[in-house]
Amino acid sequence: MWGVARFREGREVIMTAGRGAGESKGPGTALAGKVAAITGAAAGNGRATALRLGQDGAHLYVSDINAAALEDLLTELRSRKISAAGGVYDASRVEDAPRFFADTVTNFGRLDVFVNNAGGIRAQPFPDVTEDTWDWTMDLNLKGAFFYMQEAARLMMGQKSGTIINIASVAGIAGGMTLSPPYAAAKAALINLTKVAAAKLAQYGVTVNAIAPGIVNTAFNWRLDDEIGVKQLGMKPGEHLKSRAAPVPLGRIGEPEDVANVAAFLADPRSNYITGETVIVAGGLVTQ
Ligand SMILES: NC(=O)c1ccc[n+]([C@@H]2O[C@H](COP(=O)([O-])OP(=O)(O)OC[C@H]3O[C@@H](n4cnc5c(N)ncnc54)[C@H](O)[C@@H]3O)[C@@H](O)[C@H]2O)c1
Repeated sequence: MWGVARFREGREVIMTAGRGAGESKGPGTALAGKVAAITGAAAGNGRATALRLGQDGAHLYVSDINAAALEDLLTELRSRKISAAGGVYDASRVEDAPRFFADTVTNFGRLDVFVNNAGGIRAQPFPDVTEDTWDWTMDLNLKGAFFYMQEAARLMMGQKSGTIINIASVAGIAGGMTLSPPYAAAKAALINLTKVAAAKLAQYGVTVNAIAPGIVNTAFNWRLDDEIGVKQLGMKPGEHLKSRAAPVPLGRIGEPEDVANVAAFLADPRSNYITGETVIVAGGLVTQ
């Protein structure tokens, strides 16, 4: 039943009515009957990916640290007749990982797609990075992402199927001038760990890939525009983001749906001969 809020181990869990994983009555068919779990799903790339995978017929288990935004997402999914459940979990906390996946399995019985999406940045360029910012950035973008991936891997090894999609960044490929060295380092490490996991999990029929978005139209960049452009450089709102996006060869900033479309492609079982890869979604800003 929609709207039931219960408490499990002190954390609010928001539920919608979910169909059993075997019943493939989702709006689309590419992921019909599949179960997809997404972290940081309440906004930006995660939200667009949830809507897209749901539209393709997947049952969704969505989580975020922002309970109100998560509830809003679940309302939206329900209005689109997408089968979904969700809970408030912190993607930077290792102890939340087993609970997140246990809840996924409790709701839908299995895990076919894990989108390791939650991430964040604090603008602090070299050589001004504080230890607190280093630890916060690593805990969310690398440590948490790794242990969530490891937990997903164990489930998928047991099933002998599944696919993991790590949301990295072009910052992890390009290096060089970056708004946050720890963020670039964490995303570079996540790309490396994507290859490590892909190599190990191939024998279980499990694939692991990464997506490296460029500059995407989400709150992630609106916050940077405000912090750096408006507060530090005295620019008008939007000006700093526009200047960062100016060199993009395709001439526009990315939209969350650009990332979601690639996630949907990688999640599709017909893409299951791809593993260990990183797909850059950056309008040509960074290539390899
Ligand atoms: N926006 C970009 O330009 C861009 C570029 C490259 C990579 N990325 C990556 O895409 C992913 C999503 O970014 P976005 O742009 O959608 O960001 P966003 O800030 O718009 O949304 C992030 C979501 O994650 C949630 N979140 C934050 N910390 C969390 C935590 N500890 N646990 C659980 N949820 C948490 C937030 O509440 C929010 O709903 C991140 O991994 C980010 O590094 C974004």
